[in-house]
Amino acid sequence: MSVWAILVAAGRGERLGLDRPKAFAKLGDEPLLAEPLRRLDACPWVDAIVLVAPPGWEEPAILVAEEEGCGKVQACVAGGETRSDSVRAGLAEVPADALVVLVHDAARPLLTDEVVERVLAPLSEGWDGVVPGLPVGDTLKRVGSDGGVHETVTRDALWAVQTPQAFTADVLRRAQASGAEATDCAGLVEAVGGRVKVVDGDPRLLKVTSQADLETVAGWR
Ligand code: C5P
Repeated sequence: MSVWAILVAAGRGERLGLDRPKAFAKLGDEPLLAEPLRRLDACPWVDAIVLVAPPGWEEPAILVAEEEGCGKVQACVAGGETRSDSVRAGLAEVPADALVVLVHDAARPLLTDEVVERVLAPLSEGWDGVVPGLPVGDTLKRVGSDGGVHETVTRDALWAVQTPQAFTADVLRRAQASGAEATDCAGLVEAVGGRVKVVDGDPRLLKVTSQADLETVAGWR
């Protein structure tokens, strides 16, 4: 089974308030991008990597890959306006004979081989997509623009979904081409009737959105 990983790192990361994209924020003394890239490259389940960089930052991204000695990186392309556009740009670089595509957010640096293994395994049981998730622990409320509570949503069976997300390559291509809208790749696959399974995620796959998240992740490394 040939597994191609798409590492999406093209977000602007405006909430970090830096003069550079989030992928180049400092995690310790390295750019954030270096950590997930090194982990993906070292993962025995991953055969090849497409790196999706912020537009205009392709060369610095390639330099990070070279400095880290990431020999599995086959292409580095510019991302798009939305995450979905960036995944599409990455998918265009995945060859037709790839069987499985693993999509991972560079903003979740602490990827492990175990979570990659957990999302890949069910694909051979007939699932079209597999995503890691954590059961929602907080009480959820739907809130109006005035702050008034409209509804308390039962959290039974609700999971917060992370990346890496694994898909059979043909289903992900079909989902991307369908023009459906979703906030993650799994949502696109679901929209075209694909069967998606949730497996146990990892609390350490925290998505970095703030400076405090960067410090938390640096402490967990
Ligand atoms: O913006 P957010 O943190 O939700 O982004 C999740 C992941 O998607 C990040 O790794 C980010 O770099 C990536 N992304 C992208 N292209 C965009 C927006 C987000 O590659 N246009």
